[in-house]
Amino acid sequence: MNKKTKIPFVAGNWKMHMTIPEARELASKIVKSSVGLSEAEIVVAPPFTALSEVMKVLEDSSVQLSGQDLYWEEKGAFTGEISASMLKNAGCQYVIIGHSERRQYFGETDSGVNKKIKAALQHDLFPIVCIGESLEEREKGETMGKVARQIEKGLDGLGSNDFERVIIAYEPVWAIGTGKTATPAQAEEVQAFIREKLASRYGKDPASCAIIIYGGSVKPENSYDLLSEKNIDGFLVGGASLEAESFIRIIEQAIKAFKEKK
Ligand code: PGA
Repeated sequence: MNKKTKIPFVAGNWKMHMTIPEARELASKIVKSSVGLSEAEIVVAPPFTALSEVMKVLEDSSVQLSGQDLYWEEKGAFTGEISASMLKNAGCQYVIIGHSERRQYFGETDSGVNKKIKAALQHDLFPIVCIGESLEEREKGETMGKVARQIEKGLDGLGSNDFERVIIAYEPVWAIGTGKTATPAQAEEVQAFIREKLASRYGKDPASCAIIIYGGSVKPENSYDLLSEKNIDGFLVGGASLEAESFIRIIEQAIKAFKEKK
């Protein structure tokens, strides 16, 4: 990944789906269709059990591998956890951190997210850091306060060099897996705010180079309009990444919208 030449960034989060044969099949289809799509950074995040097999499929392609989470310790008695070096060793270049499902169902906190980001960076993994408000917070007008806090606490202690390798995913919790996508204007409003917030921490130039993606019911039908917005640099896709055809169509739309807004 080279942030100097920004290209649309599209990651597929497979969540708790795909056995190893299913994962291999989906990855093969994506690799085949991605041949003409070098103008996007394409990333897939299979479950841990399928990482090394999917890596074999991705080997000669430009599609990159991501973990869905990690634990910040290097090694030890942490039953059920996976370290950054294990992900790196399995072939990952990226790792998703602080997904709202981890925060909601597994008690993930901003300080845990912060430790995970630092562990990822130490092992040369690019963290894809998820932030976003719940429906209740949005209705109470607390959206900006929530994402500002998540940025402050999540990126606490990270210098400019670290920040250059961080991808931010704005994912309004009410839009994830619900079919309710944020409108392009709703997403842009928050993404522009996130970029401003990053500019006040790291300076205008680093913030303008930062990759800020959107996630929450992204589909082939809404991806062009979303990516046409100034501050949306790509997508974190859940449901629609489980089929190669819809995932590829999203990438095509992203490339088209990106070219037209340049
Ligand atoms: P969705 O998931 O596209 O199914 O809404 C997005 C995500 O959780 O990253």
